[in-house]
Amino acid sequence: MAEPLFGVDYYPEHWSTERWPEDAKLMQQASMNTVRLAEFAWSRLEPKEGSFDFAWLDEAIDVLMARSIRVILGTPTAAPPAWLIETHPEILPVNEDGQRAGFGMRRHYCPTHPAFLSATRRIVEALATHYHEHPAVFAWQIDNELGNIANGTRCHCSSCRTTFQRWLQRRYGSLEHLNSKWGTVFWSQEYTAWEQIPVPVRNVRSGSPGSAHNPALYLDFARFTSDMWVQYQQFQVRILRDLCPHHLVTHNLMGLFPYVDYVALAQNLDVVSWDNYPRLPTPWSPFNGGWNACHVAMAHDLVRSLKGRTFWVMEQQAGPSGWGRLSPTPLAGEIRLWTLQSVARGAEAIIYFRWRTCRVGTEQYWHGILPHDGTPGRRYQEVRQAGEELHCLEELATAALPAEVAILRSYDVLWAFEVQPTAEALSYDDQIGRYYRALWRRNVAVDLVTEDRPWEPYKVLITPCLFVLRAGIAARLSAWVEAGGTLMLTFRSGVKDEHNNIVDLPLPGALRELAGVDVVDYTTLLPAGSGEPCGGPESLELIIDGTSHRVSTDVWMDELEVNGAEVVGTGA
Ligand code: GAL
Ligand code: ZN
Repeated sequence: MAEPLFGVDYYPEHWSTERWPEDAKLMQQASMNTVRLAEFAWSRLEPKEGSFDFAWLDEAIDVLMARSIRVILGTPTAAPPAWLIETHPEILPVNEDGQRAGFGMRRHYCPTHPAFLSATRRIVEALATHYHEHPAVFAWQIDNELGNIANGTRCHCSSCRTTFQRWLQRRYGSLEHLNSKWGTVFWSQEYTAWEQIPVPVRNVRSGSPGSAHNPALYLDFARFTSDMWVQYQQFQVRILRDLCPHHLVTHNLMGLFPYVDYVALAQNLDVVSWDNYPRLPTPWSPFNGGWNACHVAMAHDLVRSLKGRTFWVMEQQAGPSGWGRLSPTPLAGEIRLWTLQSVARGAEAIIYFRWRTCRVGTEQYWHGILPHDGTPGRRYQEVRQAGEELHCLEELATAALPAEVAILRSYDVLWAFEVQPTAEALSYDDQIGRYYRALWRRNVAVDLVTEDRPWEPYKVLITPCLFVLRAGIAARLSAWVEAGGTLMLTFRSGVKDEHNNIVDLPLPGALRELAGVDVVDYTTLLPAGSGEPCGGPESLELIIDGTSHRVSTDVWMDELEVNGAEVVGTGA
């Protein structure tokens, strides 16, 4: 690795120009060489449709360049300005409850809307044309944290609906085929025209999102919306590659974020980056009580596995954070610890979020390295120390992490459980985390893969709850096991086909021969004390090689009949 990239997310547009030289000087004194700029600055870059102002950004970059700091530019599309929404309110996304977002947040756009695509093209082309030869600019971050919409998880607008229908048409060819694969005979849902197919807006008052919808439709809609983010990113990648062929292109991911297939999203990027907030309980995190070192490690490992190479941390937590309420401030030494953990897991860039804590707007409490008043304090000193250390760590950073164990985390499974969680206490990421944690404690390097990544090079593959089995996966697994791979299957495997319908075989379906067992009965288990009957015992005695082990039974129990397997333990 060359010199590590070390720096901050910086918002010069939030501060007076007189302060900029002081900021740049302090950054340099903390051995910073990189800043990310402008990813929400659309209204300053294009104050009116088609009229651009890059003078302020040029000036800010000059100030930084004078201190030997280089720039990653963000395309500002995560924050469409008011004038754009005024002219094209139909750009605003529609959430799972059918409500259209209003202006006033960010991520208030639909990635399929033609008016938004042309506004995107205009601003990205203008920026790329202006900066393609700038000596300080070396990389682009596309948008910011693609995948969410302002007021929900997926867009259900009329543009998405017609695009979904066309997407289905390409995938299934004919309505007969779609009707048969989706099982639309159930409740008279057989479609006789593509235009009849809905998007899964929530149509019951309670329950999981879309839970009343056909699971096949729901899974395809989840795949479709993920695809639309990938396509939207690709739309920008093409413009940038065309106009700035010598620049790197990245995007800032959100670790375990479940709504976009990150393997697909990573494909066309030079390098992936992600936003690491160890103290932030994310709404999609299955881990009670927020994050801890193990879960952060798992997110790092997932991001590293997307392309099988080192990555960047584009936002590394640098202070107490929160919008309305604050998380506790990092303890002395913690920012440094998080930094070193990132590097140890494969980060070759550490960019802190953010330089100075903002005095205005939604993120007034999202503390950066400097406090509101701009005076360097404890956090600045700690970051400076981390920077000095990082510049001595070249050897460690170049050391690859050759994992021999992989865990399969499938987006199909995530989305299938989203519509039918199956058991009260079943969380897919929590199941994955249980295996991950056991390995992490023993310091075993692990990659996290999907069906679309090669697992053949690993010695061991763990596939927690491989609930949806795409065509061809069982054969691929069998061949790999035949060739010497060790596969670890769990409960709820091989239950569904790729259309999210249950297979016509004893479970674990197409994995039955490989497993050498039949599931002859099963039950969910309710948490103890939540009512009677809870489905089974609170714990079970397992006899393995004559030794008794007590295991908790908190989610699910299968009754197995041996069909070729060698029995190593029996429940009593
Ligand atoms: C990230 C986001 C940043 C900032 C930060 C704190 O998810 O990319 O722009 O908002 O969270 O909320
Ligand atoms: Zn939409």
